Amino acid sequence: MARLDGKVALVTGAASGIGEGTARRFVEEGARVVIADLQADKAQEVAKSLGDAARFVRCDVTNEADIAAAVDDAVAGFGQLDVMVNNAGIVGAVGSIMETSAEAFDATMAVLSRAVFLGTKHAGRVMVPRRMGSIVSLASTAGVIGGLGPHVYTMAKHGVVGLAKSAASEFSQYGVRVNAVAPGNTVTAMTSDVVAGDPDATDKTIKEIQRMSPLGIAGLPEDIAAAILYLASDEARYVTGHTLVVDAGQTTGGSAGPFHGQPANVVREAGKRGVRD
Ligand SMILES: NC(=O)c1ccc[n+]([C@@H]2O[C@H](COP(=O)([O-])OP(=O)(O)OC[C@H]3O[C@@H](n4cnc5c(N)ncnc54)[C@H](O)[C@@H]3O)[C@@H](O)[C@H]2O)c1
Repeated sequence: MARLDGKVALVTGAASGIGEGTARRFVEEGARVVIADLQADKAQEVAKSLGDAARFVRCDVTNEADIAAAVDDAVAGFGQLDVMVNNAGIVGAVGSIMETSAEAFDATMAVLSRAVFLGTKHAGRVMVPRRMGSIVSLASTAGVIGGLGPHVYTMAKHGVVGLAKSAASEFSQYGVRVNAVAPGNTVTAMTSDVVAGDPDATDKTIKEIQRMSPLGIAGLPEDIAAAILYLASDEARYVTGHTLVVDAGQTTGGSAGPFHGQPANVVREAGKRGVRD
């Protein structure tokens, strides 16, 4: 039996990157998936390649009516909604906080924060009456520590982590779970755009991500999809309010800490003196 047999999922931002990888993996695991995205042509291509197991719906996640309609489309087209993946994202406002306009702040938060709130709200609307469902939202390592992303992005992603806990605390009584996945650098159009100024410059992006990766490997959409799949599936039936970090160890501080490779007595002595001696 596949891990999502009989389930229906809605994935926002499924035309590209992590969302596309997740939709494809979900279908491999027996789910039917609504591919929701602003990029209609690309999203339609993804849906078409998945055959009867997928439906396309044009959805701008900054528009509440679009999110509500995408949820309703899953129910009308596939009969129910079991899994909601709030994935659509952008980098948004960049640069110094002192030079970031309120308008750029609002536009970024609309995609990265408000849309996750609305996706959770509308998924809850159809999941709570059935007393089942799993909501997985995309945070980031920038939602766990500072300095890994632009200010507004970092603030929004910390909010995604917070909402997973807050919504989980309301929805657990109804059997609906809410979790987040916090990817580290992953090879997608978004990262290639940042790293190389070209969304298709995959080779350069892989090398750059490998360089920063404590495990020495570059994360692919499939790596993140595997974590989303776990939280979406019944294997995670005892897990809610959690943020699963998938980052090759980047947020552990990497592999070059002061004590690594030192014999225990050296570490103990250094501890007595203070690490910075
Ligand atoms: N790639 C990474 O390194 C990384 C790391 C941490 C978190 N994330 C998060 O993962 C998620 C997916 O990012 P990705 O790297 O796959 O990016 P991507 O650019 O490959 O895909 C993002 C998708 O979201 C869609 N989208 C953007 N704005 C939208 C809107 N208003 N309405 C509907 N769809 C919209 C885009 O059309 C695109 O298809 C994002 O939330 C991102 O913040 C990515």
